[in-house]
Amino acid sequence: MSEDLTIIAGSKTEQYESLLPQIRGLLDGEPDLIANLANVSAALKEQFKWLWVGFYLVKGNELVLGPFQGPVACTRIRKGRGVCGTSWENALTLIVPDVDKFPGHIACNSGSRSEIVVPWIRHGEVIGVLDVDSEFADHFDPTDQEWLQKIVALIPV
Ligand code: SME
Repeated sequence: MSEDLTIIAGSKTEQYESLLPQIRGLLDGEPDLIANLANVSAALKEQFKWLWVGFYLVKGNELVLGPFQGPVACTRIRKGRGVCGTSWENALTLIVPDVDKFPGHIACNSGSRSEIVVPWIRHGEVIGVLDVDSEFADHFDPTDQEWLQKIVALIPV
């Protein structure tokens, strides 16, 4: 496969439609977890230019920072804490239009205004989360939820 990503302009849906098969291609035949999470983070960052995009992985009773693109971030988040820990605890995607209004939001980066966190679920267990931060308020909606859930479901464990 080619390591070049085709970046397109267009609606959010058009951007995801272009990106998803490319991500599938990047993951195809590659079993290494770190390599795959790194490439998914990079592909999303390249297409959407979000402030921060990456993974936290469940290790014991904490989420631990995994591959990501963007500014340095908190390394450990306890279950039920912040947006990521709440998404993990409830096994639900969370869209936070204004991070300042989310009780317990963990401010890893002062530039973050809105956030979406998608749990990565295998065999009924949350094994990690995909976290995306934007410097713009109210940046994420159910379209992001739908496509990011599809993308996370593609990642082989
Ligand atoms: N804001 C997140 C913490 C992770 S950073 O945004 C990368 C939270 O509240 O869980």
